[in-house]
Amino acid sequence: MTSSEPTAPFLRACRGLGTPYTPIWLMRQAGRYMPEYREIRGRVSMLDVINTPELAAEVTLQPLNAFNLDAAIIFADILPPLMGMGLNLDFVKGEGPVIDNPIRRPYDIDMLATPPAEETMGPTLKAIELLKPELDSRGIPLIGFAGAPFTLASYAIEGGGSKNYIKTKALMFEHPAAWKRLMIKLVTVQADYLLKQAKAGAAALQLFDSWVGLALGQQDYLRYVQPYNQMLFNQLKAANVPVIHFSTGTSAYLPDVVASGGDVISVDWRMPLDWAWEQIGHERPIQGNLDPITLLAPWRELRYRIDEVLAQARGRAGHIFNLGHGLFPETPVDNVRRLVDYVHEKTSDKR
Ligand code: CP3
Repeated sequence: MTSSEPTAPFLRACRGLGTPYTPIWLMRQAGRYMPEYREIRGRVSMLDVINTPELAAEVTLQPLNAFNLDAAIIFADILPPLMGMGLNLDFVKGEGPVIDNPIRRPYDIDMLATPPAEETMGPTLKAIELLKPELDSRGIPLIGFAGAPFTLASYAIEGGGSKNYIKTKALMFEHPAAWKRLMIKLVTVQADYLLKQAKAGAAALQLFDSWVGLALGQQDYLRYVQPYNQMLFNQLKAANVPVIHFSTGTSAYLPDVVASGGDVISVDWRMPLDWAWEQIGHERPIQGNLDPITLLAPWRELRYRIDEVLAQARGRAGHIFNLGHGLFPETPVDNVRRLVDYVHEKTSDKR
């Protein structure tokens, strides 16, 4: 991280510094719950939005124009880097992401390419460059992101989303040496991509290990995931920006997640925030962790649940308010606005 103190509340909280109010941004803050997003998606496919820098930049700004958010996140997805490695990705309406040539045996792993990010993720890097001056003028930091090796491998092996991760775990158990080669290739590609996002203008980076805790227990996490996440986080130190480590379902082994790396730990909604922060250690900033489905509840319930998260954070420096996982398309826009404004009002001048 840079030595001079940042002024943006989100970046200050990422370093455990005091802020005039609790900063807030929301995972999946751009997306189908917004009419202005649906309007664009009515004309342009998901991959074409990502691959057109001007459109990706426009969609990134939609939630910033609608709400008083403290950070922007580049509009992209965790899966497109797999295309550069040789996997055919498509987003199919009603089905989500589909890969029609998934990894099934060690040979497939050895055939995967590891091209530099500018060759395959150029439009996203360009979108970051386009956004930088606009967001700088608003004083809003931009977050770059990528998928963690396990979560990406699960899509590459299952050919899409999964419930039990059977093919992924079978390959991992049956071919541990090939698994290691796959993880190292993913670390290579993702480290390069994240470093180049920072170079293009991202002021922070987030690694999404969305499914690791739903798929693996502690022993398998330590053996098949942690060493590679450590390699990745070590390489990201060169970016000199704070790195946020997000995972879900990992409450049984949160200290091991912390030991994998990351300056900020982003926790899911299944655990109480105060319990999580104790596990993590209060010297390390935390992000989270409102249940995203409370945004579908009436305001009295939603407000109660926001109050609960804030009470557990106790106004400590180093809390970034967020959801415990991404926003759902069914979320009412008005509740997002109320959430953001309420967190700011409730925490203003309290420290
Ligand atoms: O605003 C933002 O947060 C930035 C955009 C963003 C998207 N995907 C856009 C998107 C981010 C950060 C992601 C990350 C992502 N993508 C994750 C990790 C976060 C998480 O929720 O755990 C994962 C697992 C994916 C993979 C993915 N992409 C799935 C499973 C799907 C289909 C399910 C769905 O929500 O439709 C996507 C598609 C996707 N990525 C959409 C958006 C806005 C919906 C596509 C559409 O417009 O039709």
